[in-house]
Amino acid sequence: MEEDKLLIKSCCADFYRSDIVRLLLGDVLHPGGLELTRHLGEAIALGEADMVLDIACGRGASAIHLATTFGCHVTGLDFSCENLATAVKQAESAGVSCRTAFMVGDGERLPFEDGKYDAVISECSLCIFPDKEIAAGEMARVLVPGGRIGITDMALEGDLPADMQTLLSWVACVGGAASVEEYLSLFDRVGLTNFHVEDNSQALKAMVAEVRRKLLGVEVAAGLGTLGSSDVDLTGAKELLKRASRLVDDGVVGYTLITAEKSRSPVTEEYG
Ligand SMILES: C[S@@+](CC[C@H](N)C(=O)[O-])C[C@H]1O[C@@H](n2cnc3c(N)ncnc32)[C@H](O)[C@@H]1O
Repeated sequence: MEEDKLLIKSCCADFYRSDIVRLLLGDVLHPGGLELTRHLGEAIALGEADMVLDIACGRGASAIHLATTFGCHVTGLDFSCENLATAVKQAESAGVSCRTAFMVGDGERLPFEDGKYDAVISECSLCIFPDKEIAAGEMARVLVPGGRIGITDMALEGDLPADMQTLLSWVACVGGAASVEEYLSLFDRVGLTNFHVEDNSQALKAMVAEVRRKLLGVEVAAGLGTLGSSDVDLTGAKELLKRASRLVDDGVVGYTLITAEKSRSPVTEEYG
């Protein structure tokens, strides 16, 4: 079981640092782009005095954007060293090295003391954590009482077909997604309160359409031999995207924004 979880985390880290993902998504690895990140920052009222943690920060685009836009200090944590190396370089170029820090680590085992952060964000990532109860508990643990949390994530409105419950589908953020109700119940169990939920499924629709369009370009480049060697199965990726696109159109998979606060009174039950 522990090995299965490690396999998922490593596959995700490998996938999101790959050249093909860079080609298809660039440095912003979530629907809605930095516009939605800014909206998330506003929704949790970020300000200059805030110490913020971005869990599964990818290539650091959101951490840099939040530090630049709101003047806060942001620590980005990710499982992939390569993504973090890019994040450090990008933060230097953006002139926010003094307000950002990047660390390798596991979102299910945060290397920070209790109550260190005023705010925690995580974008399109809770869906890929194998143990969401532990991940949510860790998010809450590192927040100060009254601290704010903001996530944007894939949300299911029904059951996924069996053939979408594969490792690739999990890595692509679909297979491990939960419903909004499940996310809220999870947050409630770890001592979060004052929930606010917004539907952002249009952003997911736009992203899927854009990635499908770019994938066609990649296919053409691969056919012409102008694409460097890639071990990604383009046919499999195209099929997965086609299926995902149908699920998004049918409303089975959506994208949600959820904010909450850490309760000021202690949680009575242990999570996990
Ligand atoms: C869909 S990407 C989102 C990245 C970033 N939040 C963004 O929106 O640009 C998922 C990220 O989660 C990271 N990841 C996967 N499992 C993780 C874990 N257990 N702990 C920390 N990061 C993890 C991957 O390396 C990848 O960068």
